[in-house]
Order: sequence, then structure tokens, then C-alpha cells
Amino acid sequence: MLEISQRDFEKLTGFIKTNYGLDLSQKKVLVESRLSNYIMDSGFNSFEEYLPTLYNDYMGSEIENLINRLTTNYTYFMREANHFEHLMHVFLPYAENHIKDHDICIWSAGCSFGNEPYNLEMCMDEYFGMKKYVWDLKILATDISYNALRAAKNGIYTEKSMAKIPARWREKYFKPYGKGLYQVKDEIRNKVEFRYHNLMDDIKFKRTFDLIVCRNVMIYFDEHTKSELCKRFYKATNNGGYLYIGHAESAPEDIPYQKQEPAIYRKEEAV
Ligand SMILES: C[S@@+](CC[C@H](N)C(=O)[O-])C[C@H]1O[C@@H](n2cnc3c(N)ncnc32)[C@H](O)[C@@H]1O
Repeated sequence: MLEISQRDFEKLTGFIKTNYGLDLSQKKVLVESRLSNYIMDSGFNSFEEYLPTLYNDYMGSEIENLINRLTTNYTYFMREANHFEHLMHVFLPYAENHIKDHDICIWSAGCSFGNEPYNLEMCMDEYFGMKKYVWDLKILATDISYNALRAAKNGIYTEKSMAKIPARWREKYFKPYGKGLYQVKDEIRNKVEFRYHNLMDDIKFKRTFDLIVCRNVMIYFDEHTKSELCKRFYKATNNGGYLYIGHAESAPEDIPYQKQEPAIYRKEEAV
């Protein structure tokens, strides 16, 4: 494994934190282990030789490779089940009664391999049943890892990542795809739009959201980065809308939303 000097490590982690929010300052071994083979396969003998190529990468392809390797994309279906309980029993009944144009806007921010947005879509399909035909139930799903986004679009999963999916849903929403693999059926896949979005950037989507799901992403951000991100999320949330974060991560102290339950926040309804 290649070793990175302390000076190069601080410069590299500073660059990543400024541009992508990820705080890797305590993760020297992780950085070395995830990048060593890639650096050597690319023909460089050391971090010192490789890093100028990264910093002068105006096309963005080298940075894309780096981000693909340094992000942690761990995810699975039905992760943190009480969000799905809340969705079915609180959020969707609220949306059904209050969203008059029948267009529910959900954003899965930091969607990784797509399990999360597909899972949300399956819940909506289940909740609305035949009524789904009069609702617009598309989900926006974003990430900074192009590798994760590519896999997400294909929607092919191992049995292991589906272990918590109820048997009836496996039948209903997945089709076999070779040995031990399953693909999410087209009717669900077609409703999720995957796009690149860096959560450090301004939110410039045309629409605002009734629910933003950003789970297990802020865990890698410092307090200031989380605080600024939650302010941007708040502006992009409709009155009465919700934010779900991961149960293992703490919200910033100045989060503008009202806390409803652990890991569930709400923007107050306008009076
Ligand atoms: C651990 S996964 C969480 C996946 C899913 N939300 C869940 O809870 O299972 C974290 C994801 O956040 C993404 N991520 C990290 N920093 C990001 C940023 N600045 N902008 C957008 N996505 C980011 C990573 O690429 C990764 O796919």
C-alpha cells in the first residue's frame, strides 16, 4: 500500500472537504487503502506524483474517479424501518389530503445505489393502490458518485441487500436477473429520476419538495456543513413538508425544522 505524507494528506482532505463536504481528516488509512491500487494502476509511483494530476483536472474525470473511490455507498432496502412506517402512516395520509394538484415531490439526497428511492416508490405504490393513476409519484434521486448512480439506474440487487423486503413485495416489485440477483420492475424504475447533485452546491431544481430524505450522508459532514445544508434543504421544502435524516447522525443545533420524532423533522404548515 502506498503511504501519503502528512502534508499531502492535509491538502487532499482539505480539498475534498471544501468541495464535497466529506471530512476524511481522521481517515488516513482509508484514503491510502482506497486509492493505492488506483494510483499504481494509473502509472504513478506515489501520492506525491499523482496529486498534481488531480488538482489540475479541469475536465473533472480524475475527480470523478476519486469520488467514486472515497465515498461510502453502503445501503440496503428497508434501512431504518421507522421512516417507512412514518411514510405510510403519517406522511402519505398528509400528502393525500393536502396536496391538491396530486403531485407529490420527494427527493432522495445521497441515494447511493438506489435502494432508498426505489423503496420509497414501492411504499407509494402500495399506499395508493389503484389511486396511483391519478397521482404524480416521481422521485428525484441524487448523489455525487457516478458509479453509484450508474448502478442505481440499472436497479439490480443481490438477495442480501433485499433481506428485509417482505416476500410479497419481492414478487410484486422485483424480477429475477440471473443467479442470486433481482431487478426492480420497470414500473417502479421508470418513476425514479437519477441525477448528479453535490449537496455542497445551491439547490436549483425547478420544484420544491414535500419530503427530503437525506439519510447517512451528513454523518460525514462537520457541524457548519450540516447547518448550511439544512438551511438549503429548508428553503427547498414546502410548508408542511418533512426531512428524514439517519438515526445515527445528529442534526445541526440550529436546524430550522421542528423535530417530530427521532430523525424526522418538519417545516411548519403556513397558517
Ligand atoms: C452511506 S450512503 C447512504 C445511502 C442511503 N441514503 C442510505 O441511507 O442507505 C451515503 C451517500 O452519500 C453520498 N454523498 C456523500 N457526500 C455527498 C455530497 N456532497 N453530495 C451528494 N451526495 C453525497 C455518497 O456518495 C453515498 O452514496
